[in-house]
Amino acid sequence: MKSFLDIKGVHHAYKTRNGPLPVLEGLDLEVPKGEFCAVVGPSGCGKSTLTRLVSGLMRPDRGAVVLDGQEVSSPRKTVGMAFQNPVMLEWRSIIENVILPLEIVAPRMPRAEREARAEELLSMVGLKGFENKRPSELSGGMRQRASLCRAIVHRPDVLIMDEPFGALDNFTREDLWQTMRDLRAAEPFTCVLITHDLRESVFLGDQVVVLTGRPAKTQYVLDVDLPADRTIDVLYEPKAVEMLHLLRDQIRIAQGRDGEMH
Ligand SMILES: Nc1ncnc2c1ncn2[C@@H]1O[C@H](COP(=O)(O)OP(=O)(O)OP(=O)(O)O)[C@@H](O)[C@H]1O
Ligand SMILES: [Mg+2]
Repeated sequence: MKSFLDIKGVHHAYKTRNGPLPVLEGLDLEVPKGEFCAVVGPSGCGKSTLTRLVSGLMRPDRGAVVLDGQEVSSPRKTVGMAFQNPVMLEWRSIIENVILPLEIVAPRMPRAEREARAEELLSMVGLKGFENKRPSELSGGMRQRASLCRAIVHRPDVLIMDEPFGALDNFTREDLWQTMRDLRAAEPFTCVLITHDLRESVFLGDQVVVLTGRPAKTQYVLDVDLPADRTIDVLYEPKAVEMLHLLRDQIRIAQGRDGEMH
């Protein structure tokens, strides 16, 4: 299938006081439209750097990030972002936080229309009735749900998430995976998810890309052929368990510790 997000031979080094620090070295990644790509790799290998390149906050030294046939060369409004600790404006209600991207991307959209769009999403993620609360009145899981709504409210070309569920307890995290699955069934956006959680990568991903240690390049790509309407139970089935073992082995190789005992 034709890819929508195409990352081709990307090299990137940070300038530091001790000279250049190569972080990405020949990274390739292809995500077809509407597909969900989960990216895993050793800590510090360059995953967050990759998100900055895809969102256009930085340009690669070499290679290209192409989105819908266009090279990404400056920050894009049509990207949605979600992070581990959602930054919410405390003086705004939840619904006012969710409509923020619309104020920037579609300033002429009537207020009622913006609110209807935000209400629709908030209700989809189980936050009906919380629209007028302040962020501090919500639990961490609820805030993350609201931040997912904010990330997709303007129907971005691509949603980039950098460990969005990392700070949540296990059960809340699994609930949010299912919320994510339901959102995608309703609005099939293209997605890049950075995660440390292999179960999360298999549950959510259409493909899982394993990066090498720093400087990172693509080490392995796993196609996850599990049903789209999967439930958490699928993770206990032999097919998923086999994938998890395989990914675990790949992470060990990426960490340069294959052969070592753990
Ligand atoms: N602005 C910067 N200037 C210099 N070095 C940086 C900068 N940002 C990141 N680095 C370095 O680049 C490397 C990759 O960082 P990055 O944050 O992309 O890794 P990561 O894979 O997201 O790590 P983690 O899994 O811990 O989140 C690290 O060694 C980091 O110290
Ligand atoms: Mg990171």
